Amino acid sequence: MLLDAYNRPIKDLRISVTDRCNFRCIYCMPLDEYEWIDKKEILTFEEIERLVKLFVQMGVDKVRLTGGEPLVRRDLHLLIAKLSRVQGLSDLCLTTNGSLLADQVPALKEAGLKRINVSIDTLDPKKFKRITKRGDLHNVLEGLFAAKSCGLSPIKINAVIERGVNDDDILPLVEFSRENGFAIRFIEYMDVGNSNNWTSEKLVPKREILEKIQARHPLREMGRDQGSAPSVDYEFVDGKGEVGVVASVTEPFCSSCTRARLTADGKLVTCLFSQMGHDLKARLRGGATDKEILELIASVWIKRKDRYSDERLEALRSSTYDPKSHKKIEMITLGG
Ligand SMILES: C[S@@+](CC[C@H](N)C(=O)[O-])C[C@H]1O[C@@H](n2cnc3c(N)ncnc32)[C@H](O)[C@@H]1O
Ligand code: SF4
Repeated sequence: MLLDAYNRPIKDLRISVTDRCNFRCIYCMPLDEYEWIDKKEILTFEEIERLVKLFVQMGVDKVRLTGGEPLVRRDLHLLIAKLSRVQGLSDLCLTTNGSLLADQVPALKEAGLKRINVSIDTLDPKKFKRITKRGDLHNVLEGLFAAKSCGLSPIKINAVIERGVNDDDILPLVEFSRENGFAIRFIEYMDVGNSNNWTSEKLVPKREILEKIQARHPLREMGRDQGSAPSVDYEFVDGKGEVGVVASVTEPFCSSCTRARLTADGKLVTCLFSQMGHDLKARLRGGATDKEILELIASVWIKRKDRYSDERLEALRSSTYDPKSHKKIEMITLGG
């Protein structure tokens, strides 16, 4: 088994299929323009498929397609069809803002997609527009229910909670999810990328999110899926659904992190907060053999020492944390 410097295996791969997005969420991609990756540098579906097969040989059994907004990548269902046939890959999922889902979900399902995460931070249409700048809640809900009708399961809603923006949406989102049979994941607001002006005051910690929910609906902790999932999950004591919290800031899970990331332009990145990636595409396009690429992946993973969120918590506790002092790869490039 391939282990990194802290004995963490490589198990999950998040692939950004595009750095483009039709939303401009204030916590993720607040600027109108970024330094976009040139189209010819974006990995083709065939290149992604080849790399996924090699990652599976290294121990990866779960792939999440993300971005940017993965559904703005043309014909994404063709990639799903290729990846759903990869032997040894037991879980293939997609994280989407849902805006283009209603049209695409039948083809995605037909291609082999089984489950999906849809990001929805509020059920208030005006606030939704304020948060996403370009999004329309109606379209997203249409996509969400189309996914349900098509039989995707489970369907999870991702909600990033930012103080003063949508902390009053926690309970409405819980009620909505329970009523409609969706699981919900609350995500602590993180200092991803370089332009969201994150401060710890804007963070609503996991403890506070759970207190709000517990006051209405008692919860029972179930733990992390497979022991290494980012979310700690809870079931409602009344048996009506489940909720999870991804607490990367207040309860970092670096010690059990088994995730690698592949950027839209083919760089292997070993942490969401990395400053650089390792260029696999150059080797692919330069004619490297599978063995050579496997060796490169292994040499990167073996040296992996990332524990950014642990270090951030230590710095936050001693009031020495400055998010701007660490220039990161944008989340849209490396796949959130
Ligand atoms: C980068 S998005 C890409 C996929 C897709 N466009 C979407 O929004 O679901 C993946 C996830 O990252 C989350 N995310 C983005 N910025 C974040 C931040 N600053 N803190 C926490 N989560 C964030 C989004 O809410 C989304 O659930
Ligand atoms: S969170 Fe998703 S939808 Fe929102 S700007 Fe980022 S990539 Fe786009």
